[in-house]
Amino acid sequence: MSALTGIRACVFDAYGTIFDFASAAARCPELPEDKRAALTATWRDKQLQYTWLRSLQGRYADFWQVTGDALDFALDSLGLLEPGLRARLMDLYLHLTAFPEVPATLRALRDAGLVTAILSNGTPTMLEAAVRSAGLNDLFDAVLSAHAVQVFKTDSRVYSYGLRQLGLGGDQVCFLSSNAWDAFAAKAFGMRVVWCNRYGQRPERLPGRPDHEIRSLDQLPALLQPAG
Ligand code: LAC
Repeated sequence: MSALTGIRACVFDAYGTIFDFASAAARCPELPEDKRAALTATWRDKQLQYTWLRSLQGRYADFWQVTGDALDFALDSLGLLEPGLRARLMDLYLHLTAFPEVPATLRALRDAGLVTAILSNGTPTMLEAAVRSAGLNDLFDAVLSAHAVQVFKTDSRVYSYGLRQLGLGGDQVCFLSSNAWDAFAAKAFGMRVVWCNRYGQRPERLPGRPDHEIRSLDQLPALLQPAG
């Protein structure tokens, strides 16, 4: 496998890539165990659909609202209407656990002289809460939110905002996402891309095949040859 050369920054998607969105339901004692997987899947699917649909319709609402709307849909679908459950799950979404290899990987990248950043649909408040709660504050140089451009991925304005904020060109950035659709879109946009295929997804049939595919972020540093 050939290393990516000339990279100056690693830019990460947040949810599913750095933070485990399944940890909200998994850590909610009020949620019956046999409903957790279904709740997580429907919540995530609807959350993503709403970002795409709102972007397509030009009807932006921030990711906190979209996440809450998606949760309402998921709870309703599963007949989970206990009072307090929604608030509890939304609060847990602000305190998701990071995947176990994340801190060491970020440290290795920074030791190699690379800039580290998040580029996510999450609002600045959501991202700041998750980064702090996972103890990652000192490991990111920048936390960038699609909220600044009022549209969601895969709109190219989001990826372009990321590059602008970092002052780098697409060929100097390695973008990381566990979401195939996000990885393919960033590659089609013009970034170098490593798809962290945690969930064993099939490749998208869309433009932008990523440069590399890995299963976990600890495989990332070996793929990079930082710019001198
Ligand atoms: C994000 C979601 C889409 O962090 O994973 O942007």
